[in-house]
Amino acid sequence: MHIVVTGGAGFIGANFVHHVVREHPGTQVTVLDALTYAGDRRSLDPVADKITFVTGDVADAATVDPLVAAADAVVHFAAESHNDNSLAQPWPFVQTNVVGTYTLLEAVRKHGRRLHHVSTDEVYGDLELDDPAKFTPETAYNPSSPYSSTKAASDMLVRAWVRSFGVAATISNCSNNYGPYQHVEKFIPRQVTNVIDGVRPKLYGTGANVRDWIHVDDHNAAVWQVLTRGQVGQTYLIGADGEVDNKTVVETLLELMGQPSDAYDLVSDRPGHDLRYAIDATRLRDELGWTPKYTSFRDGLAATVDWYRANEAWWRPQKNATEAKYATLGR
Ligand code: NAD
Ligand code: DAU
Repeated sequence: MHIVVTGGAGFIGANFVHHVVREHPGTQVTVLDALTYAGDRRSLDPVADKITFVTGDVADAATVDPLVAAADAVVHFAAESHNDNSLAQPWPFVQTNVVGTYTLLEAVRKHGRRLHHVSTDEVYGDLELDDPAKFTPETAYNPSSPYSSTKAASDMLVRAWVRSFGVAATISNCSNNYGPYQHVEKFIPRQVTNVIDGVRPKLYGTGANVRDWIHVDDHNAAVWQVLTRGQVGQTYLIGADGEVDNKTVVETLLELMGQPSDAYDLVSDRPGHDLRYAIDATRLRDELGWTPKYTSFRDGLAATVDWYRANEAWWRPQKNATEAKYATLGR
């Protein structure tokens, strides 16, 4: 099989390419990535001689069309992915997440190719802290931020292209990922690299918000299962029963890094900040037999801390610019 992986120089996409090269070596991989601030070709260095890399925009039909024509399937990770950025400057989110997905859909429609669209649990909005419910594939869409609303729009485009044009597509909606090669703007890498730099971690609001953490390798193993064995037209929720509140995440990180567990600061909250996400992954588990390998969040977090300690050359170039951006937001 020949797959095009969009956004393959980003956090999850790069880990997916590593996963495919390692676990499914007969697969031919072409990465399409615009190398925005969030993309880093160095994340693909360990597999560089086993893949083809194309620098380009998913919203550019002239770039996308021949790549799709030459492949069997597209796995679509490319997106603007950070909520805080979407609040500061929404337009790139509309362009890449909505127009980019539209452009890919038109190419897979024209060439009769398979598409897997990688999406987020944030399309469902949020849950109360004490609500026993979790998100299921039947939960109504109710996105809160410019980021999540553009992802919701992209999911809707995929569903419409499946129904109206018979495009062979699947969608997955996953919860918060952690692991190697994640940009230092995101919660866990930001705090780990702050502690390495002797800076106190910063918790938005009261730190009570809950995220349903999953290791990126478990997410990517599920994406492969859905791509190769999922039912066309179906939506799969991906999550590993990893609900933890932000305060506990920071306290655990501080403890793992040899600091007092209260050595953090509370900062101003993110506008519209979703309270809690929680995934019911029953369909994925029952239909495709997927189970997560990382069952201890603490162990996965410890391995992630080790990775950031060992790979300062990878994240250091982004750190100052990222913190300068946060400083303008007062966070
Ligand atoms: P990321 O920001 O780390 O990487 C995004 C990649 O897409 C970068 O390499 C960037 O250069 C590329 N890109 C951006 N605009 C592009 C364009 N116009 N054309 C081509 N490439 C472009 O994001 P991530 O965290 O790896 O997320 C990947 C996907 O997974 C996204 O679709 C996101 O919505 C989804 N997702 C992320 C999470 C998470 O916890 N990070 C959870 C669920 C779903
Ligand atoms: O749920 C899936 C989503 O998870 C993905 O779709 C997004 O692409 C991904 O970025 C992530 O979104 P979040 O907004 O949940 O992730 P982020 O890492 O920005 O923040 C995680 C939580 O930590 C959130 O409640 C906000 C909080 N936070 C974040 C930062 C950067 C802090 O308390 N302090 C911080 O410095």
